[in-house]
Formats: sequence, C-alpha cells, structure tokens
Amino acid sequence: MHATITLLPGDGIGPEVVREGVKVLKAVGAKFGHTFEFNEALAGGIAIDQTGSPLPDESLAACQRADAVLLGAVGGPKWSDPKAPVRPEQGLLKLRKELGLFANIRPVKIYPALADASTLKREVVEKVDMIIVRELTGGLYFGQPQGRQDNAQGRAAVDTMYYTEAEIGRLMRISFDLARQRRKKLTSVDKANVLASSRLWREVAHEVAAEYPDVEYEDILVDACSMYLIRRPADFDVIATENMFGDILSDEASMLAGSMGMLPSASLGEKKTSAGGQFGLYEPIHGSAPDIAGKGIANPLATILSVAMLLRTSLNLSRETEAVEAAVEAVLAAGHRSPDLAGRDQPMVGTKEMGDLVVAHL
Ligand code: IPM
Ligand code: MG
Repeated sequence: MHATITLLPGDGIGPEVVREGVKVLKAVGAKFGHTFEFNEALAGGIAIDQTGSPLPDESLAACQRADAVLLGAVGGPKWSDPKAPVRPEQGLLKLRKELGLFANIRPVKIYPALADASTLKREVVEKVDMIIVRELTGGLYFGQPQGRQDNAQGRAAVDTMYYTEAEIGRLMRISFDLARQRRKKLTSVDKANVLASSRLWREVAHEVAAEYPDVEYEDILVDACSMYLIRRPADFDVIATENMFGDILSDEASMLAGSMGMLPSASLGEKKTSAGGQFGLYEPIHGSAPDIAGKGIANPLATILSVAMLLRTSLNLSRETEAVEAAVEAVLAAGHRSPDLAGRDQPMVGTKEMGDLVVAHL
C-alpha cells in the first residue's frame, strides 16, 4: 500500500524519537512491501521561532492531506514564560481541534520484562492492561470564557468546563466499542458530586451504557479513581473521562508501566483514511524532556509503539502492527534498557541504538 504520513517532530527530544519512529516505519515498509511518503512540518516552539505561529497554516494543511500524523513533543523552557503571547502548546490544541481529534486513546500495558521497573510492587502492576480514553477537544481546555478577567478586586482569571451531550455521547461510544473488543468493562470517571458538567456526563454515559448491555459499566469519582489506579490498577479495562481528568490520570497511570517513555497514544476523530482506517495523530505521551534533549538518551519506544498504533488504526495493517509490538517486546526481553528503564548497574542503550535494535528484531 501507499500512505502519506506527516511528521511533526516538534521540540526537545521530539525530533530524536520521531527519527526512530520513521526508521521503524521504513523497515516495516521494506519488509511488507509498502511505501510510506513522509512530509515534515513545523509545530510547537520551533514553529514559533521560525514563523511566529505554533501551528503555521501549511503545517495544518500537511496534516489534513495525510493518512496519519506522527508527532514528537512540543514545548520547553525557552517558550514557557507565562507572559508570552504565544505558546507551543497552543499549536497542539489547535491541531486537535482543527483535525477533529476528540478521542485520545492511551493504552497502559505492562511488559513482563518491565514489571520490576515500576515504583509499585510487581504483584500490583504485572497484570495491568488498560486503555484510558480521554476526551480531547472539549472541557476546561476549550470552554469559554477563558482568560484573564482582572477587576476592581485585583487579578482574576477564568477557565470553563463546558460539555454538550453530543461531545459526551461520541466519546462514550468509542469507549464502549473498545471495551467490547477487550474485557468488556467500562469505567466512566467524573466529579458528579460537585460539577454540573460531570452530572451531564454521567447522565449521558448511562444512556449510552444502556445500548451496550454486554459491557459491564461503572461510574467512579475522579479522586477515588486516582486512588484505585495505585491500589488495584489491574481491575481497570477501559476508562472514559473528560479532557483534564484524563490528562492527569493518564500521567499517573503511566507510572504503572515504569516509565512515561513506554506509552504511546492515538488521537482519533470521525475522518477515514484512503486505507479504510481512521485518520489519526499519534504521539508518545511523554513531553519534550528538555533536560535530556540532544543527548541521544531518550527512550524512543513510546514513539515506536505509537507507530504500531498508527499502522493498525489508520492503515489497517494488523500484521505489521503485531510485528512492531513483538519486536519491542523481544528487545526488552533481551535485556536492552534505555536510561529511564535501567536499574542500577544495568547496561544502557541510547535512542538510536534502541531504534536499531527494534528494526533488527522485526
Ligand atoms: C498531553 C500534554 C498536553 C495536554 C500539553 C502539552 C498541552 O500534557 O498531551 O497530555 O495537556 O494535553
Ligand atoms: Mg499531559
């Protein structure tokens, strides 16, 4: 098959890990007879530096033309002055909104070889296999009014958590569909004891749940959920939640896997690709890690696993996906560790070496 993939390497370690993702895609193409055409575009701080905008129109257009987008990371101390008029993160939010990517899929799975890499006990984490489905284009991130509202009392600011039933309903349906393909359990997370938007969330969630009688359904308050994620994480199958709750819970859940450097994500909407898959944006869940940028020590596996998600979801290539996932598992089982995963006295491999090892195991 022929597919077009837009690359947004972004800032910090973004370019380093995307390079390894591309390396793996090229190897998959060679092995299975596909041609992937790559177009690189600017996003984030680097885009601000070069064009003044965190997401120039031509970058957005390049994403709209592609079958899938692979993003590294955006942001860094250079652009994080709270008074700055433009911020790299605005580019990412605009991308999600403009591309209609309302569902962010964040799988958290523990590789057997890494069950001791977590700060939690092996017996707590070893059976963890969950997916967090985070609503991505609504809630506090986009609700209006938003911004400074200085007044006679002094400085003030507002953010708004706003949801429509349509936004909640489509997110719940994607989540239930996923649960159906897995262990058939769905946990909806809200703060319905305090927030009106959460009470609507729960009302709509129950209506959609009635359409999926074969899926076990529960509601949990977000504070309790953050506790259960540490106490009994293996009980979760699919977690569906609003934007900000999902942002926080998914970072928490990433620690179950030992390192954020292991976790991929897919952001999906309703658009289909020429391959009959779903158009999507794929990115590691870690950030730009400016402290280690340029040192060649970042773990590229989250990006490589994001590439695996891209192959399955946007390009409908299951065998290829399984090959990449199996290669990652084999590399870990053989004992190779990037610095974020290495225990004391364990030998470490760098970013490029890790990418080469995955290709070698394909
Ligand atoms: C994430 C990140 C982003 C978010 C930032 C970089 C805007 O934390 O993808 O989880 O908050 O959504
Ligand atoms: Mg986050």
